[in-house]
Amino acid sequence: MCNMIHSQLKSLLEKYHQEHLLQFWNELSENEKEYLFNDIMNLNISEMISQFNKATAFNNNKKHLLDNKIKPIPTNVMESIQNLLMDNVLLYEKLGLQEIADGKVAVILLAGGQGTRLGVDFPKGMYNICLPSNRTLFEIQALRIRSLQNLAKDKFGKSKDITWYIMTSDATHELTVAYFESNKYFGLNKNNIIAFKQNTMPCFTLDGKIILDEKYRISRAPDGNGGLYIALKKEGILIDMKKRGINSVHVYSVDNVLVKVADPMFLGFCISREADCGVKAVIKRSVDEPVGIICQIDGLYTVAEYSEISTDTAKLRDNKGNLIFRSGNICNHYFTLAFLNNISENYEKNLDLHIANKKIPFIDKNGEKSKPNIPNGVKIEKFVFDVFKYSTKFVVWEVSREDEFSALKNSNIMKIDCPLTTRNDLLRLHKKWLLNSGATRVEGDVEICPLISYGGENLIEIVKNTSFEGPMCLKMP
Ligand code: UTP
Repeated sequence: MCNMIHSQLKSLLEKYHQEHLLQFWNELSENEKEYLFNDIMNLNISEMISQFNKATAFNNNKKHLLDNKIKPIPTNVMESIQNLLMDNVLLYEKLGLQEIADGKVAVILLAGGQGTRLGVDFPKGMYNICLPSNRTLFEIQALRIRSLQNLAKDKFGKSKDITWYIMTSDATHELTVAYFESNKYFGLNKNNIIAFKQNTMPCFTLDGKIILDEKYRISRAPDGNGGLYIALKKEGILIDMKKRGINSVHVYSVDNVLVKVADPMFLGFCISREADCGVKAVIKRSVDEPVGIICQIDGLYTVAEYSEISTDTAKLRDNKGNLIFRSGNICNHYFTLAFLNNISENYEKNLDLHIANKKIPFIDKNGEKSKPNIPNGVKIEKFVFDVFKYSTKFVVWEVSREDEFSALKNSNIMKIDCPLTTRNDLLRLHKKWLLNSGATRVEGDVEICPLISYGGENLIEIVKNTSFEGPMCLKMP
């Protein structure tokens, strides 16, 4: 029996030059042999090799600069919060809160990433950036959702709940689910928090050999945040959204400490423009900031990687002195449910496959687990923004970085986009809210609980003519 399995596997693998996956076969226990057999048979190896080839071809093609093809976002699809008229502020906010009160809003949290740069072995959302409250990213986001539901209720007398879908992966699922459960869903209704897992892809060496993570197991990684679209369909999320009467979906990345979850202004802006796909942008910090640029390539909306345009093009300025390619992508998107259905049904298979060179632990030829110091392999990933090109009504909402974006990517050693910078950015913002609301003095670390204020509103009565000294978290009495 065992010999039969071995020869069946061998002939399958030889066809795709992957026979090295059986190199430890004779050392495996019966259970391990069965595990490896299932692992390989469940892989759809021909499809995986074809995806590797497609991704490699796409990646090689990306080495050509896009300078001749790139165009900025037309001004008529873009609005900046900085230049917004008060009438529009009120209109967008009202439309957004109305959509929430009507129960038509869902948020999707992208939380399947492995957080390798931060270097922790638990989901990034569980990270505590050492605010006075000691709240983790998941908790902060949960309280912002509660706060928004309260705002919608205050405005319209009653409000339905926001549904929170959390995309996890093999790397983050169990811990995430257990964390929410043990924290009683941070006061949200547990029926409105739905975790679903994204797919994985095998990891490859640079020359296309599938990597073994154990002698009996293939190395896998989540299929990128663009794995969202297939997972939404496979995990029944689109059907669940339809049942709940969802129309507007806000998608965001777990690591933006300032994220305005289900931001009513953004929702309202997209709704007023009848957009099917919207994106938040921040102005690039500098010409060489390594951030994706929201732009048009060959007439289609997309995000160009900073390495895909030359410095000369990156430096181009308009007649007001602003960078022409200045709209930095912050992984913060609006989609209608109809658009998501259309993508999952018709376009998901066409999404680009990107290659990320990574340090991937592997079993060396002596059968020992090895952790490389330099990238030794590739992960294949889809990107969430690769659907922009299918939008028929695309809009861009430019927001202020200080108010809305500070990403937790690295450990403190890097001194940028790390726990310390994100913590400081949040405290700086809260200090600004306090001073704008009439506080006389703010010393030390003063944090504001999201249940008191979602975005700086409703503070005057509480803080006017008051002096604050941290560390403290301003909470409901
Ligand atoms: P990043 O690309 O910054 O990846 O993800 P990461 O996993 O957080 O960190 P590194 O690169 O390993 O250090 C941006 C957002 O997309 C999510 C992440 O959880 C984060 O919210 N993501 C990323 C997924 O949901 N799935 C993936 O497969 C990759």
